[in-house]
Amino acid sequence: MQLLDGKLAAQAIKEDLKEKTSALLQKGKRAPHLAAILVGNNGASETYVASKVKTCAEIGFGSTLKRLPEDISEEGLLAEIEELNNNPEVDGILVQLPLPKHISDEKVISAIHPSKDVDGFHPVSVGNMVAGTPTFIPATPYGILLLLEHYKVETKGKHAVVIGRSHIVGTPMSILLSRKAYPGNCTVTICHSATTNLKEMTLQGDIIVAALGQAEFLTGDMVKEGAVIVDVGITRVNDATKKSGFALKGDVKFDEVAPKSSGITPVPGGVGPMTIAGLLMNTYNAYVSKL
Ligand SMILES: NC(=O)c1ccc[n+]([C@@H]2O[C@H](COP(=O)([O-])OP(=O)(O)OC[C@H]3O[C@@H](n4cnc5c(N)ncnc54)[C@H](OP(=O)(O)O)[C@@H]3O)[C@@H](O)[C@H]2O)c1
Repeated sequence: MQLLDGKLAAQAIKEDLKEKTSALLQKGKRAPHLAAILVGNNGASETYVASKVKTCAEIGFGSTLKRLPEDISEEGLLAEIEELNNNPEVDGILVQLPLPKHISDEKVISAIHPSKDVDGFHPVSVGNMVAGTPTFIPATPYGILLLLEHYKVETKGKHAVVIGRSHIVGTPMSILLSRKAYPGNCTVTICHSATTNLKEMTLQGDIIVAALGQAEFLTGDMVKEGAVIVDVGITRVNDATKKSGFALKGDVKFDEVAPKSSGITPVPGGVGPMTIAGLLMNTYNAYVSKL
């Protein structure tokens, strides 16, 4: 069993981007710049955004964090996005989800200019992805592709079983794994809460991507020998032994599944760091596309 270590793979990508950024600066150019918008005080969102901004600094990217109050109006938020759209020094814009209930995610996502849509959620990016046209791919599935590539996981002709059909993970993952490219060329089955024979499906998976958000859902009896397991889930589970009072659990029962697998991502330290790597790659690509 090989540990598909996302921290290590992300580090390699960050080092490469750091070198590229330093070369740009030496040529007198500016660094790529990511702008993040955080609305309200959601604890998990604060952590995610802080980590994205910190990683930008580590590799020499510029970043802006706009903190907006929970009660900002939808128009107010759209105006902030428009300002960033018009700022030529901003390459990528992300709005951390979830947004407060009075604001439409759809309107906000659609307001981001497609050329700056580094989260890859804009309908134009999604359409391009489905059509197989180069575009911004949502950071988590992009990070997973980069991870499979880093560890040279064979995907051609494999049966990939994706659990979860969200717009940010499961659905794009299923599309990307089925495209005629590497990583891809898989036969893909996509499962969700209405799938009646899930175990029958997962037992066929040469590659399983678990993205359902249910702690330790995928157990040893649900996977075949030699499968490659990508665990996307992050669920906070109460744990009195931790200072924080909680532990982070993946969707996979690691101790049972790891011995049967040929490769598996840990949680934490698997898909999480790769998601940030995907976002940074998108930001760099947004910058380069303007040159
Ligand atoms: N590591 C990272 O960077 C990263 C990034 C994004 C998300 N995540 C984590 O990944 C997990 C999934 O995120 P998400 O945003 O995709 O979640 P989501 O929007 O809640 O989607 C969950 C999907 O799983 C399906 N599902 C739920 N229970 C199921 C079951 N018992 N059997 C089969 N399918 C089931 C749902 O089916 P229906 O469509 O039928 O409801 C849905 O399609 C979460 O734990 C999230 O925190 C991690």
